[in-house]
Amino acid sequence: MKFIVLTLFKEMFDAFVTTSIIKRTIEKDIVSIDVVDIRDFTQDKHNRVDFPPYGGGSGMIISAEPLSLAIDHSIEILKQDNKDIEILYMSPRGKVLNYNLSKEYASKECNYIIICGHYEGIDERIIEEYNVKEISIGDYVLTGGELACQVFMDSVIRLLPGALSEGSLDEESHTNKLLEYPQYTKPYDFRGRKVPDILLSGHHKNIADYRKQESIRITKKFRPDLIDKQN
Ligand code: ADE
Repeated sequence: MKFIVLTLFKEMFDAFVTTSIIKRTIEKDIVSIDVVDIRDFTQDKHNRVDFPPYGGGSGMIISAEPLSLAIDHSIEILKQDNKDIEILYMSPRGKVLNYNLSKEYASKECNYIIICGHYEGIDERIIEEYNVKEISIGDYVLTGGELACQVFMDSVIRLLPGALSEGSLDEESHTNKLLEYPQYTKPYDFRGRKVPDILLSGHHKNIADYRKQESIRITKKFRPDLIDKQN
């Protein structure tokens, strides 16, 4: 799976692509992430990419011209793969990301171009011209789409085959509509708080039953709405 990210703040992705699991998935060729500066495509003599909105109002809007050239350039690159290309825009008005949506994007035989807006957003005509799909990471507003884009890519990439060690996805929160049970590791006794004895029993069936009960307890406590949805 390939991602081309269009942004005015490339440096915000430096740590993302060079750290931990994302770094390893890139090294293993499970995914590639190219980060492209929209400003490289401006034809404005002052290198500007954003202008005040028609009709007035606060903030600046990223112009359709440099952005369309950046998108066309990305499409040309991805076309060589002969795979579908989807163009996404991180936006607070988009479809709200959840586990199922991440799974949907992870399972498509598709490459992605992701537009990160900043300031007040992008010219609406880009959305229409390229049939762009909008994705939000929650009902709040960020200063730009870069962090949202990283959240989206992270949630998708970790679901790709080979990204995580086998079994890691089986019992995590949201995979079975319950939150994950509490986990413990060394030391056995932390300031008088001991690890539940059943986890040291070696009895796999009892441990599995106990963890299921704990998952239900934790879900009822933190996200009772998830239990309601199951009924
Ligand atoms: N850009 C600004 N706010 C956002 C949000 N909540 N989700 C995705 N992109 C955004």
